[in-house]
Amino acid sequence: MQHALPNARWAIALAAACAVQCAQAAPDAAQQRAAKLVSQMTLDEKIGMVFGQFGTEFQGKQPPTEALVQSAGYIKGIERLGITPQWLTDAGIGVASQPGKQTRERTSLPAGIATAATWNPALAFKGAAMIGKEARLSGFNVMLGGSVNLAREPRNGRNFEYTGEDPLLAGIMAGEQIRGVQSNHVISTIKHYAYNDQETGRNHLNVKIDDAAGRMSDLLAFQIAIERGNPGSVMCSYNRIGGVYGCENDHLLNKVLKRDWGYKGYVMSDWGAVHSTIPAALAGLDQQSGYPFDKSPYFDGALKEAVQNGHVPEGRLDDMVARILWAMSAHGVMDNPVKVRDKEIDYADHARISQEDAEEGIVLLKNAGNVLPLAPGSRRIAIIGGHANKGVLSGGGSAQVYPRGGMAVPNEGPAAWPGPMVYLPGSPMQALARRSKAKLDWHDGKDAAGAAKVAAGADVVLVFATQWTSEANDVPNLSLPNGQDALIAAVAKANPRTVVVLQTGTPVTMPWVDQVAGVVQAWYPGTNGGEAIARVLSGEVDASGRLPQTFPLAENQLPRPRLDGLDLPKDSRFDVDYDVEGAAVGYKWFDLKGHKPLFAFGHGLSYTSFTYTNLKAEAADGGIQVSFDTLNSGARAGKAVPQVYVSKVGAGWEAPKRLGGWDKLALNAGERRASKVAVDPRTLAVFDAASNRWKIAAGEYRVMLATAADAPVQTVTVRLPAREFAAGAR
Ligand code: BGC
Repeated sequence: MQHALPNARWAIALAAACAVQCAQAAPDAAQQRAAKLVSQMTLDEKIGMVFGQFGTEFQGKQPPTEALVQSAGYIKGIERLGITPQWLTDAGIGVASQPGKQTRERTSLPAGIATAATWNPALAFKGAAMIGKEARLSGFNVMLGGSVNLAREPRNGRNFEYTGEDPLLAGIMAGEQIRGVQSNHVISTIKHYAYNDQETGRNHLNVKIDDAAGRMSDLLAFQIAIERGNPGSVMCSYNRIGGVYGCENDHLLNKVLKRDWGYKGYVMSDWGAVHSTIPAALAGLDQQSGYPFDKSPYFDGALKEAVQNGHVPEGRLDDMVARILWAMSAHGVMDNPVKVRDKEIDYADHARISQEDAEEGIVLLKNAGNVLPLAPGSRRIAIIGGHANKGVLSGGGSAQVYPRGGMAVPNEGPAAWPGPMVYLPGSPMQALARRSKAKLDWHDGKDAAGAAKVAAGADVVLVFATQWTSEANDVPNLSLPNGQDALIAAVAKANPRTVVVLQTGTPVTMPWVDQVAGVVQAWYPGTNGGEAIARVLSGEVDASGRLPQTFPLAENQLPRPRLDGLDLPKDSRFDVDYDVEGAAVGYKWFDLKGHKPLFAFGHGLSYTSFTYTNLKAEAADGGIQVSFDTLNSGARAGKAVPQVYVSKVGAGWEAPKRLGGWDKLALNAGERRASKVAVDPRTLAVFDAASNRWKIAAGEYRVMLATAADAPVQTVTVRLPAREFAAGAR
């Protein structure tokens, strides 16, 4: 009887999962196809679909022979039913390789945080479409990114992979990355669901957060990215939430994701994040990944036995498989089989796409006396530190993309994973040399006194400061490492016309900020990043990035001045209390507490100036429709990022204001353009856990046009009627 009526059983399971949001929705074509395939499968075939293995040797255990070399994973197919195997690769910035002797060399986008800093969804799509294409041509049909954990914790070693601290910005940018990858018939896996916001203790730490606060912050970022990108897969996270592991969290998986948001795809585990068979299966995990990272092959023989014994209904197993097949069918993976065709990758074209992304993501933080763009008449430029004569830095861990042409600087950082520290070839110094008549004097920055000597008397000094961040390790504090603060201070003392170019994965503090003329945040700028930096410094392109994350003045401004778990042994169990700030993440916390940051969320200078007029706001489409004009009032072409913040008059929100929308406009000198911004209704609402609904209170709302979270330009008010809507609606 166990095997009877799999169709009907699956339909029941699907209906249960969709009880609230989509009970009425008829199965789409891909679901119908998936159900038909499931009905033809044996129990062993079904088990094979939900059990994934690591694609690389691990602790002496060999990967399946069919896996692609040094890859993230492999799941076997079913030839007789025309079901292709799944070949999995990391991830968000390009086709990554696990460490080993046969690393793939591929195009690397700038870090995710850099793409977020473009505030340009079209670029997020374009870059992701490019890496998705490289994935397909490399033989992969599942890519393990967009990554959208909110930057709640600025010391998080993985912030470089993510898209910042604001749920609307992060969700939209990650949603576009997902759409871009999937435009190649490659499944995108949004991760790490949820609250995996620090690496320290990630395997067992327990996040405490009120559900409503989560729905308005971290979960909202996922919700927006999922509705916009429609990813085939969601990766559940290592950590615990409310005492329960992410991959056996009934509330997050069954209730929020599948029921409230009506998610049709499958949940795969992070590598080593499964701790059980029956609880995980019943809580909504659909595929175990990366065995042998987990202690046991929970979704192999043990799951089969649990199904045979009735502890896991076969309908639930059918649902798991059907969800995987839905994703493979809906995103064209089944009908467009992959084959390794890496000779066809157009690296030159892809490098240009990456460069465009990097150029728009570079943020000009400070520009005293217009020290930038570099004056064409400069005679001598001193260039110091950061291996700027060799290449640009990238972030480490599973997202590591190895560059064509090999690493620009060998033997840096840890030899073992998450190392090595990879510098991509293409040096900013050489890119500047190609553009400037000035004499460029190099110093490696290893001794501050020597660097100061080279700096003295130069027309301008460029100090390249770096902070390598990676998966598995957080930074202990926000200071630049390796004595670079002292280096910058010494150089700035010798020559105040000093510009600091930062390649970091997350904010850093800047005790020297008043002593230098300029600060440029270049993040990890990816393939052709050196070219991108040189183009921004020389003014060939405008500086048009804006911060997707607040830069604190000091750690004592943070909800957790000290990182939780920092001093505890590995694999300790401890709580991280997100109830401290609730939904007031990033700039919202700074607003709430009245802290003045070093550089605010949304901040970024341009080489031209913009004037904003005509701000109007009206209630429309359940939210607010905003319009305004932007004039390029400066002397050169540039890109503006006008931001719309909303604020409820009176109490009731977690923080004084929220980002409600934005525009990014390329304008020639003297050009004026009108923008229309629709404020997402969820940024006007409070999530009510008791009714499981969003509620917009009737009353007055302030609509602020601003150039950063701390720089309002104009404000109008608008009256909204009361409105409420379902958890998965907007
Ligand atoms: C990471 C994931 C990654 C997986 C496979 C894990 O360590 O957390 O983001 O996709 O490994 O490499």
